[in-house]
Amino acid sequence: MAFLEMKHITKRFHTVVANNDVSLSVEKGEVHALLGENGAGKSTLMNILYGMYDQSEGDIYLKGQKVQIKDTKHAIELGIGMVHQHFMLIPALTAIENVILGLKDNKMVLDLNSAAEKFKEMAKKYNMAIDPLTKVEDLSVGQQQRLEILKALYRNADILILDEPTAVLTPQEVVGLFDMVRQLTSEGKTVIFISHKLAEIMEICDRCTVLRLGRVVATVAIKDVENKEELAKLMVGKEVELVTEKKDAKLGDEILRVENLCAVNKDKRPVLTNVNFNVFAGEILGVCGVDGNGQSELIKCITGLHKIQSGKFFINSVDCTSETPKQILKHNVSHIPEDRHRMGMIKGMTVEENLILMCYDQEPYSKHGVFNTKWIGQHCEEICKTYSVKTPDIKEMAGNLSGGNQQKFVVGRELDRDPELLIAVHPSRGLDIGATKYIQSRMIDERDKGAAVLMVSTELDELLEISDRIMVMYSGKVMGIVNQKDATREQLGKLMAGIVE
Ligand SMILES: Nc1ncnc2c1ncn2[C@@H]1O[C@H](COP(=O)(O)OP(=O)(O)O)[C@@H](O)[C@H]1O
Ligand SMILES: [Mg+2]
Repeated sequence: MAFLEMKHITKRFHTVVANNDVSLSVEKGEVHALLGENGAGKSTLMNILYGMYDQSEGDIYLKGQKVQIKDTKHAIELGIGMVHQHFMLIPALTAIENVILGLKDNKMVLDLNSAAEKFKEMAKKYNMAIDPLTKVEDLSVGQQQRLEILKALYRNADILILDEPTAVLTPQEVVGLFDMVRQLTSEGKTVIFISHKLAEIMEICDRCTVLRLGRVVATVAIKDVENKEELAKLMVGKEVELVTEKKDAKLGDEILRVENLCAVNKDKRPVLTNVNFNVFAGEILGVCGVDGNGQSELIKCITGLHKIQSGKFFINSVDCTSETPKQILKHNVSHIPEDRHRMGMIKGMTVEENLILMCYDQEPYSKHGVFNTKWIGQHCEEICKTYSVKTPDIKEMAGNLSGGNQQKFVVGRELDRDPELLIAVHPSRGLDIGATKYIQSRMIDERDKGAAVLMVSTELDELLEISDRIMVMYSGKVMGIVNQKDATREQLGKLMAGIVE
């Protein structure tokens, strides 16, 4: 008898079938991975287990007993805890307040002191250096995640669900998290570990259930899995080449130069401090860092979307510091923005109209104010085909395309313009392995054709594979720029955490 069983679970959201007859069996004390590409149905399945959604069909059994999980509170009573991809802590409250919030034994007066004692004991046991009286907003992302885990343990969770927990961590924090997972299972607790990162699953998990398009394709014991490629094949449904080939960089002229750039946010707090770097033709400069350390503002500054406080930047030696976004793009710059839905595409326009958004007044798109409609149509079809953008028609409203397809379209449109400077922010975020590998090799093609490429990513594997040099940002500053050939995970991880030796 399995510790936890989910049998024949189907979950429909209107017409979308997020889980289709999914059965999952988890043993006590194991780390069980849920592996699948974006949209495969992992979070939905676990949200059902955590009482956030009702399944449309199917049953859940805990220790052989059928349970009808009414809501999250009920799930917690049953010993199920979940740490979501997006944390659910309240920033303005202290760590301890967040932990005891919503506990049902909170009588009229909260016994903060005894709660703080228990908290400290647990924090010590699990090696978490968090002062219970610190406000959550002052904790690092990694600490917030630990607090979420502690919160679940405080509620006596036996089964801990971690939804893509490493996405927001530095490599060192990942090591810490894995130590903790091992400690938990050695105490007999059960961990369900959601991820699409193959190496992590190979390292930390005992078994792995693979979801594809809402269905279970396999459950395998990791000790029987030969290599990452094998897992990738299960996840994608066909062979995937995991290594991207790349020749040595042939450097040309300096295309982008950033000098002493400083910027502040809405609250006038510095978000960029004296940022200096350059990108040459024929190279890919990867920008590495935990999300929220100024990468996003840096890109917005050099694409005219964020006010520059002081400092300058040059494209091909032309000072562009006070240019508008449109003027900047005219320097033969392509931009794959961070937020494809808000900045990359206009949802209420057709796919075809989105193609010509920024260049409708240029040849061959138009001549003397007259659109070259035939060429535009053909060209749009071509991009959709090359980048496998699934759309019923190029006259379809962009907003009706799925997120991944919108993204592939934006990437295709931007790469297709043969840019001299390509600025790509999280180019592979949210894409499946096949599309990711294709886009990475296209970026390398652009580099080999002589483009200067500036790529922001939080995926260390991507940065190490694609970049020629890697610039690490922490707290709005450049912590260092290292050659890809000399870069190690440990070194990058330290820089990402703001540690310089
Ligand atoms: N609340 C919701 N309403 C409508 N569709 C949803 C909702 N949550 C998830 N989906 C859809 O269900 C599918 C599975 O999503 P999800 O479980 O989040 O996948 P994963 O976690 O594996 O990336 C996707 O197609 C997603 O768009
Ligand atoms: Mg998910």
